[in-house]
Amino acid sequence: MPAAPFTERGPRARVTLFATRVALFAGIAVGGAAQETPRDATAPGAAAAGAGPGRAFYANRFEKIPSVADLTAVGRALFVDPALSASGRVACATCHSPSRAFGPPNALPVQRAGIDGRRPGRRAVPSLMYAEDTPPFTEHFNDDDGDDSVDQGPAGGRTWDGRAASAHAQARLPLFSPFEMANADAGAVVARVARGAEARRIREAFGGHVFDDPAMAFDAVLLALETYQQDPGEFYPYTSKYDAWLRHRATLSPAEVRGLNAFNDPARGNCARCHPSAMRRGAFPQFTDHGYAALGVPRNDRIPANADPAYHDLGLCGPLRTDLAQHSEYCGLFRTPTLRNVATRTVFFHNGVMTRLEDAVRFYAQRDLRAAAWYPRQPGGAIRPFDDLPAPYQRNLDRGAPFDRRAGDGPALNDRDVQDIVAFLGTLTDGFVADAAPEKP
Ligand code: HEC
Ligand code: HEC
Repeated sequence: MPAAPFTERGPRARVTLFATRVALFAGIAVGGAAQETPRDATAPGAAAAGAGPGRAFYANRFEKIPSVADLTAVGRALFVDPALSASGRVACATCHSPSRAFGPPNALPVQRAGIDGRRPGRRAVPSLMYAEDTPPFTEHFNDDDGDDSVDQGPAGGRTWDGRAASAHAQARLPLFSPFEMANADAGAVVARVARGAEARRIREAFGGHVFDDPAMAFDAVLLALETYQQDPGEFYPYTSKYDAWLRHRATLSPAEVRGLNAFNDPARGNCARCHPSAMRRGAFPQFTDHGYAALGVPRNDRIPANADPAYHDLGLCGPLRTDLAQHSEYCGLFRTPTLRNVATRTVFFHNGVMTRLEDAVRFYAQRDLRAAAWYPRQPGGAIRPFDDLPAPYQRNLDRGAPFDRRAGDGPALNDRDVQDIVAFLGTLTDGFVADAAPEKP
């Protein structure tokens, strides 16, 4: 299958855009565009972070205007610094492992942290890579490429349920979550950072008096963490074998090509329906459409919260997210994750119920045809499909291909397709060294 011709727009264009955005936040004039308001100036996080009403989150109120390089360096150091947590034992990197695409460091479904470093979380740790194009959360998404009248439903936002609408809102969550860093308030974070190893560098970047105003110092911490997470080299390098293939710089093996075809084929995997794999307007594919779907993955008894049979993580409709609790049509829906670097993970889906990529792929082929392979039996012996989604919400389950098979149909994917898709997903891991000689297109 030949690669489509394209002009490279993705990574490089984004670097420039992001530099522009930081410059705007810091009040630096960039090519006459300095009048523009920062995208998230009015995000809920702005007021909560200590900025007064109408005051921009990133207003130019630091003594020094930090450079992107300084912000990134400070953010990188804070990311691995356990001083950011109340227990003094947990860093961002403890859960978001830099050597595993900033996903979980192990095969545990949830990590332990919190005030004593031992409180279990509720969900699997998502990768932090390739989030730069994630739109803010909306209930009514219109893909700007298509027909404006088509409402594609909920999309965007951060975390598995999109409850952090923006990157700023997100940045605050782990610092205060009782399952994560468990800080009492912004002042507590600032006090720890002011005593910590990065204090000197933060003063150098933002000005000697930055710690005099805790709200300002807290903004500095968030800005540094956020800027680091947008560093293209670490968070969206586009250096996978698949990217190299799109650039005509690598050849996929026969199994990888078969896997790509099964992944795309609407009659087989139909995976690209939600995990788009093609170049679009010159941009590299993200392998997520940022939408939400209820797949009905099995309940995971290894999550301590699930010891309570009445507890169900229903994603968009709660209980971690609270604003959409009245929307029963959203119960069971979770955000579609990117599949870039998915082969570096050892837990899959929001509840980490699967520990092998092959199982995650096979689930798509077998959910409706071989329920016994995935779901438990009731005491009487009958299979209880969708055991983590209470019956009233099972109408929300996705029923489009590959989930459109009925008893008597063959599976959407046979065993070889599953193996081939796993081989193909392996080409989405960053760090591939491209062939020296470009392939002839
Ligand atoms: C104890 C483990 C843990 C720690 C520590 C932790 N996180 Fe997370 N992080 C998670 C989990 C779990 C989620 C998913 C939460 C959810 O969906 O409800 C998450 C979600 C996120 C997301 C949203 C990702 C997405 O694309 O949806 C970002 C961004 C993030 N964390 C950044 C950070 C930063 C920055 C730090 C340090 C200040 C941090 N995390 C500390 C476990 C952790
Ligand atoms: C209807 C949209 C949809 C389709 C079609 C779809 N996926 Fe997904 N995918 C999702 C959603 C939503 C999740 C997260 C679900 C959850 O955690 O409950 C997900 C999660 C995954 C994961 C786990 C990733 C992680 O980080 O934990 C893998 C692997 C995956 N999908 C592969 C595939 C493959 C392979 C196909 C085709 C056979 C496919 N998907 C088809 C929506 C879809």
